[in-house]
Amino acid sequence: MYGLLKKVFFSMDAESAHLWALRGARLATPWRSLWQGFFQVEDPRLVQDIAGMHFRGPVGLAAGADKNAEAVAFWFGVGFGFVEVGAITAQSSAGNPKPRAFRLPQDQALINRMGLNNHGAVATSERLRALSKRALGPVGANLAKTHDPSILGDDAIDDFAQSFRLVAPHVDYIALNVSCPNTTEGKTFEDPTSFAQLLEAIFQEKTTLGLNVPIFVKLSPPVDPEDVDPSGELGEIVDLGCRLGVDGWIASNTASDRSGLQSPEKQIQLIGRGGLSGRPLAQRSTALVRYLYRRCDGKLPIIGVGGIFDAESAYEKVLAGASLLQMYTGLVYEGPGVVKRIHRGLLRLLERDGYGHLREAVGKKAD
Ligand SMILES: Cc1cc2nc3c(=O)[nH]c(=O)nc-3n(C[C@H](O)[C@H](O)[C@H](O)COP(=O)(O)O)c2cc1C
Repeated sequence: MYGLLKKVFFSMDAESAHLWALRGARLATPWRSLWQGFFQVEDPRLVQDIAGMHFRGPVGLAAGADKNAEAVAFWFGVGFGFVEVGAITAQSSAGNPKPRAFRLPQDQALINRMGLNNHGAVATSERLRALSKRALGPVGANLAKTHDPSILGDDAIDDFAQSFRLVAPHVDYIALNVSCPNTTEGKTFEDPTSFAQLLEAIFQEKTTLGLNVPIFVKLSPPVDPEDVDPSGELGEIVDLGCRLGVDGWIASNTASDRSGLQSPEKQIQLIGRGGLSGRPLAQRSTALVRYLYRRCDGKLPIIGVGGIFDAESAYEKVLAGASLLQMYTGLVYEGPGVVKRIHRGLLRLLERDGYGHLREAVGKKAD
């Protein structure tokens, strides 16, 4: 069924295909009672309560696919157990010049340098407010700093805090995106000092607002899966996060480097800079999941994301330490039916390995 649609989508450039897919999703949403039954996998072995949230399935939609929270109910309809909208920034932004999203079919990958295009925290928080009473399942918001290189230092922290104030009251969790590879100013919060300042400011806001919303932090993938933390900075960040009270980690964002690609060198060069996602990221994000699980003694939940295309690639992340999963590129290549296939496949793999519940498999191959 997706074969035909995929041909149509892949005949367009990647961003136009995405916009058409979102339009289709919005159109299909009012009719979802007619079709959503086909996508649902209800099984108690996949149900989890994590950080105060109730997840009916472990596979969620990754940030970037629905930046402005325009089709949230649709994603739950196609079987996702949770949805992360965003990245949302304090000020709306048109993002980088087009073209800015590219497919690498030979690698089953995407490269994007969208540059945090989004409607901004005011507009999206209004949309989220309208949603929040419908109890579809956990909805998270991915927050990033407004894409403007002149917003730095204390202003950058204020910018993040402003988004938090507007959005946090209307979502089930917040993901602090300190790892977007597509901004002119670079990753301004992935060094320990500024990371600590950001976390302190966000926790302060949380206390002031009297909110109980869990805070997850989304990190960059390692360049080398064999050596996840060559400089030691990641370890510092993780220890800081644990000490300051982060509720969980998301591993990982897209990669800035191009290691491990099969696509022709010329094609890769023509595309230029941007974050790489999809199959080539799988091993590297799994290595980060494993590292985080070990470093935090399995005490903090990890959302594993990067190159999940099927139950096997999802299960690898569970064994490495992820209790929840997310995907984006796999959805582009495999279509919405992939969510059900992964949930079903996970049940088959759990049975094969003698686990009575997903949580029993989490971190079983973290060593
Ligand atoms: C077009 C595109 C836009 C993205 N935008 C965001 C974003 O705004 N915030 C974020 O944290 N991650 C963003 N991501 C990264 C994804 O959430 C995910 O971490 C990454 O793509 C790896 O997962 P995947 O291999 O399943 O795609 C984006 C990815 C793509 C392909």
